[in-house]
Amino acid sequence: MKPLIIANWKMKLLPAEQTRFARVLAGFGKGHTRGCSLVVCPSFDSIASVAPILEGSSIAVGAQDCFWEERGAYTGEVSPRALRQLGVSYVLVGHSERRIHLGEGDEIIEKKYAAAHATKGVQPILCIGESARARASGSYRDVIKKQLAAGLRLVPKSTRARLIIAYEPLWAISTAAQLIGTKGKPITPHDCSEVYYFLKKILTRERPLSTAVILYGGSATSKNICVFVAPGVSDGALVGGASVERAEMKKIIDIYSRQ
Ligand code: PGA
Repeated sequence: MKPLIIANWKMKLLPAEQTRFARVLAGFGKGHTRGCSLVVCPSFDSIASVAPILEGSSIAVGAQDCFWEERGAYTGEVSPRALRQLGVSYVLVGHSERRIHLGEGDEIIEKKYAAAHATKGVQPILCIGESARARASGSYRDVIKKQLAAGLRLVPKSTRARLIIAYEPLWAISTAAQLIGTKGKPITPHDCSEVYYFLKKILTRERPLSTAVILYGGSATSKNICVFVAPGVSDGALVGGASVERAEMKKIIDIYSRQ
């Protein structure tokens, strides 16, 4: 299976900048990302303008979040079905920045994940990852196992055929790391691989034919992406900071157009 590369633009660009950048990427991306599946996640304000630009290119559109109900009195929220109508085919759920800044916990994340999972044409990506303290104390496996179980709690095992999990250790994410006063630095490929097999083992035990895709996220750039997106290390990457840099995205697309 081709690696899956998700560009998470977070709230880093204004609508006009996102539209411009999407045009640039569509130019880079047309038929050139043969070696990977590339997904761009604009902020909500720009999905409707970015999706038509990327239509017909090899780049898919994702969303950074969703709500769990399909419609109703939920001020400010956006449903997976509405996202689908706008051309979204992937949605991030449980990103650590939402856990940190919006207080999203297991109860919210499990509902969001289940709602997106149940929406035809939308593939949720469950984001999990431990804190620096859990990594240092060695309890990181328990933390991510718990987050995984919580995120998938409302999804029947029989329907878990294609799961996508993004493993993003908090301390490795460039912006989250700043919050605790350090600079984000990626995990080592060896440690990433250890978590990769740990997650695969849990998911395969639950559903033997599961084709779970495990992504790595946290200070991924054009320089280190080939180290992290490699057999036995991860099946793809969730790229934040580097994904809003034109030169970085060009390099990443170039890497995968050669493969
Ligand atoms: P980063 O962000 O690449 O800037 O560390 C990754 C993410 O938060 O998804």
